[in-house]
Amino acid sequence: MMAGERIWSRITGTGGILPGRAVSNEELARQLAERGVETSDEWIVARTGIRQRYLADPSQSTSALGAAAARAALAAANVDAAAIDLIVLATSTPDQIFPSTACLVQDELGAPGAAAFDVQAVCSGFVYGLAVADAMIRTGVYRRALVIGAEVFSRILDWHDRTTCVLFGDGAGAVVLEAATEPGILAARLRADGSQARILCTAGRVVQGQLQGDPFLRMDGQAVFKLAVNVLDASAREVLADAGMSVGDIDWVIPHQANVRILSATARKLGLPESKVIVTVDQHGNTSAASVPLALDVAVRDGRIQPGQRVLLQGVGGGFTWGSVLLRF
Ligand code: UT7
Repeated sequence: MMAGERIWSRITGTGGILPGRAVSNEELARQLAERGVETSDEWIVARTGIRQRYLADPSQSTSALGAAAARAALAAANVDAAAIDLIVLATSTPDQIFPSTACLVQDELGAPGAAAFDVQAVCSGFVYGLAVADAMIRTGVYRRALVIGAEVFSRILDWHDRTTCVLFGDGAGAVVLEAATEPGILAARLRADGSQARILCTAGRVVQGQLQGDPFLRMDGQAVFKLAVNVLDASAREVLADAGMSVGDIDWVIPHQANVRILSATARKLGLPESKVIVTVDQHGNTSAASVPLALDVAVRDGRIQPGQRVLLQGVGGGFTWGSVLLRF
């Protein structure tokens, strides 16, 4: 890189991991029936598009999943863990209150000295993390980052609450983001509305050694649904305007994978053919911060996303938070 030359950041490798085993709607419905909770494959498919999800074994931690996804991304980028100087990990299900899961991953990977911290933006976490890492690389101080989304949401679900427990799954996805002389990331915008904190939250906390408040994920599904469709549309238009592009310039959209009905409604609102939307929620369920990097990895590995194509990544979730990253792959 020449002195004074503009620095961009570029994704050079992707990775993902789905833990444990796939649990179909039928199997889940049978297990829930034993607890007196009534649901069905028909309801779950019709309302969400989800057909199965992966649930981690008790021995699998968020840091282990994050490290596995990171290793796959490093291999794809042909980068050594020791060459990484920044690790940003998005999660709402960290291994511990502290230290950050990013620090645990740093140690597990063998990336000594790399800056490491967690980002907490729930289902928008990966997009938040990617925007932060992009900004840090563009300062010129950091050159090779790992951005990871890793979750074990199955551990904060109330398995007696059918309105939430059928929706989520576990997993991790990661990218290697490197300094480059050409973009890469073209535009990134993050937003939040804390006045909507209650519509999607896990409010419990530990105080004086005791759990206070509700330790389970709670959601007003319809409120989240409506807000999600509106903010995803506005956010897409925001980054397109920043990059001087229009909807027709997008090759692929990877929105947060919460519900196929949200994905379809967003595509319709944007005026984008559904064939350009990458969908993994049917296979993965909603994996929160892991959903976008997992979907990206799937579409890169199956050859749909090709070098040079323009990809829009979108997060939306608790906080309320949302954001978009527009990039040239
Ligand atoms: O990752 C963060 C972002 N999260 C999201 O984006 C989630 C957004 N919200 C959604 O995806 C949808 O609102 C849900 C999938 C959560 C719910 O779909 P809905 O079409 O809004 O259903 P609803 O909440 O209006 O419930 C309809 C009916 C209710 O029964 P009644 O009151 O009509 O008799 C529910 O009790 O479906 C019932 N129901 C279920 N039935 C069978 C709710 N959950 C279930 C279930 N199985 N699992």
